[in-house]
Amino acid sequence: MKKIIIAIDGFSSCGKSTMAKDLAKEIGYIYIDSGAMYRAVTLYCLEHNLFNADGSIRESELKSRMKDIRITFRLNPETQLPMTFLNGTNVEERIRTLEVSSHVSPVAALGFVRQAMVEQQQAMGKEKGIVMDGRDIGTAVFPQAELKIFVTASARIRAQRRYDELKAKGQDVSFEDILKNVEERDRIDQTREISPLRKADDAILLDNSRMTVNEQKEWLKERFNEAANE
Ligand code: DC
Repeated sequence: MKKIIIAIDGFSSCGKSTMAKDLAKEIGYIYIDSGAMYRAVTLYCLEHNLFNADGSIRESELKSRMKDIRITFRLNPETQLPMTFLNGTNVEERIRTLEVSSHVSPVAALGFVRQAMVEQQQAMGKEKGIVMDGRDIGTAVFPQAELKIFVTASARIRAQRRYDELKAKGQDVSFEDILKNVEERDRIDQTREISPLRKADDAILLDNSRMTVNEQKEWLKERFNEAANE
């Protein structure tokens, strides 16, 4: 069985990271949530007043500060799941708030931000044995990946999943706000100029609207076995 790169792309909140994490744990691969990196940059912008009142970004200021933004991942020793660190501080919880979700798309649309993130992501995949999820992993980060999956589900189903997740964490959120956020992010992700969200020609499409987490897990494991044994 050869060591491969697995790229999992798709719409926001469609369960990509759950399936990617599960698979990585089971097969002993590194798991990288590339969205967490864009979220961490967004949190940095929020904490350093790099957003104007109208939601736009102070681009030149952010550009000059990119070298000060260091994103790393460490495994939680109890859960064995990766936690995101921004300049040495654990920000795993803070990058998942609706505030960060509402500000992340314009940050992820900036060319210089993407360039910096993609470079780091490619360096993480040098040794293969990695599962990375995001929007442009199969198209821009690892176009040579041996296994590419493109995941989708209806916007309502995705909003419901995110709503349940945030509620479970005790956050006070409204379903309608989340649905709006999901739809708006879909629009921005698909229409941005640089690396828009799109299925790579050689990616396998998975619509998981009617699948359970376990069914997805099994499905992905089968695809992995096929790709790694090729
Ligand atoms: O997967 P997520 O919702 O945590 O991603 C957060 C945002 O980052 C999402 O709005 C799109 C962006 N993103 C991206 O542009 N490219 C990636 N590879 C991953 C995420």
